[in-house]
Amino acid sequence: MKSTSKRAVEQDVLYYEYTSAANPLAKGTISPQPFGELLSELHETGVTRVIPFDLSAQLGITGPATSANLMASFVRIEAGGTINTSVNATSEVYYVIRGQGHSVLFDGTVIDWKCGDFFVIPGGQNTAHSAESDSAFYWINDEPLLRFLGVKVCEARFSPTLYKAEDSRLELQKIAEDPKAVDRNRVSVLLANSNFPQTMTVTHTLWAMFGLLPVDAVQPPHRHNSVALDLILDCKPGCYSLVAKEIGENGVLINPVRQDWKPFSAFITPPFYWHSHHNESGAHANLIPIQDAGLHTYMRTLDIEFAHPKADRAKRS
Ligand SMILES: [Fe+2]
Repeated sequence: MKSTSKRAVEQDVLYYEYTSAANPLAKGTISPQPFGELLSELHETGVTRVIPFDLSAQLGITGPATSANLMASFVRIEAGGTINTSVNATSEVYYVIRGQGHSVLFDGTVIDWKCGDFFVIPGGQNTAHSAESDSAFYWINDEPLLRFLGVKVCEARFSPTLYKAEDSRLELQKIAEDPKAVDRNRVSVLLANSNFPQTMTVTHTLWAMFGLLPVDAVQPPHRHNSVALDLILDCKPGCYSLVAKEIGENGVLINPVRQDWKPFSAFITPPFYWHSHHNESGAHANLIPIQDAGLHTYMRTLDIEFAHPKADRAKRS
């Protein structure tokens, strides 16, 4: 084997004084997760296509990417149309915003889908999606994570899985009707897969929730180290989230950003930001946050935290 010169193996060496490089995010050498939204008009009009929610320029990374680890897109398929998707990812989650059709995987597996279904597939292979009626997906995958690592997916960790709309709605209804629901921070069902009993998530990297924001709800703030790429379903004006870096001892967010919910549009809740959800619309609303919380849970870094007023905190400590 040809030996590498001393010059070549030392040419990239750097040394930093500890305090000058211990927190690159605070120093500004790495960008924070930007806010952003992807509006429904994009998947409601135009030709069959993938509509990327690409924030890689703001993140300062090679894209496309919506967050450091995840890529979110809408997929629009006109009636009678077909579109192929293929990404170097370990996990792909599709939520059917509207329409019906089927997807054919590389191994011949066929998934029949309709409005309200979720389906989850391992990445790395071509999938052909065909629509019988005007259709749209919300599509999340972890291709940006693999691109950062410089790896190609080589092993499926789970099988293609379909979560039917009627089943997830029934599960959510059971949770909402449980008398204990009033004491809970969220009225939501988490999608899970029997291959991942430790993380209890939809794949080993991804986490998906189907949530209800009841009329007049004020869901108290919480935060976590995973990013949330939120899709709003049906909602009337008056539903919104408040998002802030800091929280007061009274459990109220300090200088929050208000993100108004728009039907069938997506927005971002950055990692470690406190966030609360509010429904002043007079009608129930539903949301689907998808996160890299499977990966964070595996890494023991999710660190989910719920806000409590000062007196309550003291009681719990
Ligand atoms: Fe959250």
